[in-house]
Amino acid sequence: MQEQFEATLARGDRIEPRDWMPDDYRATLVRQIAQHAHSEIIGMQPEGAWISRAPSLRRKATLLAKVQDEAGHGLYLYSAAETLGTSRGELTEKLLAGRQKYSSIFAYPTPSYADVGTIGWLVDGAAICNQVPLCRTSYGPYGRAMIRVCKEESFHQRQGFELLMTMMQGTDEQRAMVQESVDRFWWPALMMFGPPDADSPNTARSMAWGIKRDTNDDLRQKFVDMTVPQAERLGVRLPDDGLVWNEARGHHDFTPPDWDELAAVVRGDGPCSAERLAHRRRAHEDGAWVREAALAFAARAEADRAG
Ligand code: ACO
Repeated sequence: MQEQFEATLARGDRIEPRDWMPDDYRATLVRQIAQHAHSEIIGMQPEGAWISRAPSLRRKATLLAKVQDEAGHGLYLYSAAETLGTSRGELTEKLLAGRQKYSSIFAYPTPSYADVGTIGWLVDGAAICNQVPLCRTSYGPYGRAMIRVCKEESFHQRQGFELLMTMMQGTDEQRAMVQESVDRFWWPALMMFGPPDADSPNTARSMAWGIKRDTNDDLRQKFVDMTVPQAERLGVRLPDDGLVWNEARGHHDFTPPDWDELAAVVRGDGPCSAERLAHRRRAHEDGAWVREAALAFAARAEADRAG
């Protein structure tokens, strides 16, 4: 069985739910997919806070649709995790008990409307860098979920960029709002890719299994190289004096973010960590009657079919 698993990976074929897989491979997938799913759901909060305060009907409709897309991404991912034998309810309980993580980026506040644009541009931009290679991940259901997620994330990134471009063509005050937001989100966006490769306990094994296709540092570099020309086009400054083109490497050099800050946020000590989980817990409790009603309905439908 092990040989068949290894041979499938060596051929570059996918592992599917009914195939034999090592327990550690399954556990790693559940860990990563669950963290990813939780990120999508918790990620609805920072932007969702602006739906009722969006400056126009068009901006409100776009933001509403975007936040709904994130809920959909969470559902595709929980479904992918279910094919590995873990239920959505089980994963949600673990998140609420603080036993599973969600992306560090969503533990930061969104005090300014420009943050809606910056999240679209930088955060969804970073998510695309990370997730496009995951369309080729070795586990079938995860890779297939990623294809649709990436299409929608690309649209989200464009709407963020367009929002910021509109603000940059506005008043001095609007331009200052954009710059202030970019100054706050730049470093947390770099942290989204995880710790440096040398301090990443999971990368080597996940790469060997084809779960991850690139290392954290390679994806971070790709993101920086992709973002610099976009920042120039927007007319914003990325807040790093060490950010320079390195002709010899063919990449930009840049200052690494504060890794102690990432470690603290991952531990659950981010600026909004407690608030995000409390909100999620409340939403889960408020939804209890919907879950009960759905189960009662399903039981009755089943009884009708049987009878
Ligand atoms: N936020 C929270 N936790 C993180 C982060 C982060 N930015 N980066 C790393 N970690 C955690 C890892 O989950 C791991 O914890 P665990 O072993 O207790 O589960 C630990 O820190 C060490 O990191 P790595 O060994 O580098 O972990 P891994 O190989 O899983 O790489 C990464 C981390 C790159 C985030 C990977 O899991 C991944 O690609 N996930 C899928 C993408 C994703 O989750 N995106 C969510 C945000 S995007 C969005 O929703 C807009």
